[in-house]
Amino acid sequence: MRKKIIAGNWKMNMLPNEAIQFIEELAPLVKNTENEVILCVPYIDLFYALLTAQNTNIKIGAQNMHFAENGAYTGEVSGKMLKSINVEYVIIGHSERRQYFNETDETVNKKVKAAFENGLKPIVCVGETLEQRESGKVEEIITNQTKLALDGLTNEQVENTIIAYEPIWAIGTGKTATKEDANDAVKAIRKKIAEIYGQNVADGVIIQYGGSVKSSNAKELFSMSDIDGALVGGASLKADEFSKIVGFEQ
Ligand code: PGA
Repeated sequence: MRKKIIAGNWKMNMLPNEAIQFIEELAPLVKNTENEVILCVPYIDLFYALLTAQNTNIKIGAQNMHFAENGAYTGEVSGKMLKSINVEYVIIGHSERRQYFNETDETVNKKVKAAFENGLKPIVCVGETLEQRESGKVEEIITNQTKLALDGLTNEQVENTIIAYEPIWAIGTGKTATKEDANDAVKAIRKKIAEIYGQNVADGVIIQYGGSVKSSNAKELFSMSDIDGALVGGASLKADEFSKIVGFEQ
């Protein structure tokens, strides 16, 4: 059976002192969970978060990386740099990055490959806009994004990729996909992975749902056959609320 992975995405929130305080508060609340707990924090918080999370079951991730190892890319941070301070996870292709920072399926794929080359585990985001949903294109859009993101990876790498299905219209809006719609979308992604990499690989891949997940809807989403946890934005900014999502408490 696949485990559940609950990842927080703080986006551009939390100063280092707030990050330290948050992790100190969260650690005792999640210490007995069987689920995996990840916090994806701003670059400036990474080092403090890693130090504070030592000797806890909280894993730390970044929210983006560049695909090159180093070079003339002012303002960017590479996978090699993240790995050098023991970051374990990295979100790649979040819809906000696709929308505001010109991420394309091609750069997403380069970043996913670079993440693996540097020993990082990618959390790859895919999802449709409201317009695409209304025109009946959900499956086509998200399976194509998945295929392109994973292009050229080995079976083992695909098995170690976390995919986050995040319908764009549900992010930060308070609108959550119904548990049935979310599960259907996640199933479609799994089916596409099975077509390309085989059923065994597809059965092992963790596919999260993201988009206005909170403690009041986590349990029903996580009760669905194919949803293996969540990528949580707004509700990951309060330790108490986030710990309830981790524990599926209402
Ligand atoms: P939200 O964000 O939970 O605030 O909707 C989710 C995300 O962007 O990963």
